[in-house]
Amino acid sequence: MTSTASSPASAPKDPWDLPDVSGLVVGVLGGTGDQGRGLAYRLAKAGQKVIIGSRAADRAHAAAAELGLGVEGADNAECARRSDIVIVAVPWDGHAKTLESLRAELAGKLVVDCVNPLGFDKKGAYALKPEEGSAAEQAAALLPESRVAAAFHHLSAVLLQDHSIDEIDTDVMVLGEERADVEIVQALAGRIPGMRGVFAGRLRGAHQVEALVANLISVNRRYKAHAGLRVTDV
Ligand SMILES: NC(=O)c1ccc[n+]([C@@H]2O[C@H](COP(=O)([O-])OP(=O)(O)OC[C@H]3O[C@@H](n4cnc5c(N)ncnc54)[C@H](OP(=O)(O)O)[C@@H]3O)[C@@H](O)[C@H]2O)c1
Repeated sequence: MTSTASSPASAPKDPWDLPDVSGLVVGVLGGTGDQGRGLAYRLAKAGQKVIIGSRAADRAHAAAAELGLGVEGADNAECARRSDIVIVAVPWDGHAKTLESLRAELAGKLVVDCVNPLGFDKKGAYALKPEEGSAAEQAAALLPESRVAAAFHHLSAVLLQDHSIDEIDTDVMVLGEERADVEIVQALAGRIPGMRGVFAGRLRGAHQVEALVANLISVNRRYKAHAGLRVTDV
């Protein structure tokens, strides 16, 4: 039988039909920092099980205890081992070394890179050009046995960590190679009130997304703001 446009067989998948990720454990490498701590807080507040990672387990335990909400702390290796989704929130300087050292622990995991390779000079922030194209592509190159996605670049750690703010009014661009993995990350972003995860292409497009943070920093400086982004008409 020939299928028609209205038959279920030919109906395109609803792009907002996202998986239930509520049972997945989220680890945050570098979770003692501003961005990691902010994401850990927002995800844990939304009901996600979160493990903060650090180079030193005691720093992770302290950060986790401060957050409460069932957040646990561990060294980065244990954090990676125990998590289903691992967000990379370390500075660009430590990115390659951190991931290389955790290759075994990150094998088979969904790794979500939010690292923005930036430089600063007297003109302000500017995007660096990683040899691999972007931080996310560097992660993919260093972690051949992991599933790498990129997301959470355009968030303000100040707003994420501000407990007086209930909703984070921004979209998150999610990039990756496998639709199923991208949708998991979109769903994770969508757990945070006010936030949407929007598919924004393959990892080869990650440089633009990472680089755009330099522009947002210029916006923030001029307008004394914590700017985010909205993708309109989706
Ligand atoms: N801040 C933001 O608003 C924001 C927004 C979007 C994306 N990001 C990205 O998120 C990442 C983290 O930003 P952040 O502001 O949270 O940075 P951060 O506070 O400077 O660093 C985060 C954590 O990374 C660990 N770390 C520091 N140097 C390291 C190194 N050389 N190797 C491995 N780990 C190291 C530290 O944890 P331990 O000492 O406990 O290991 C630190 O607490 C950056 O790549 C940034 O581009 C930040």
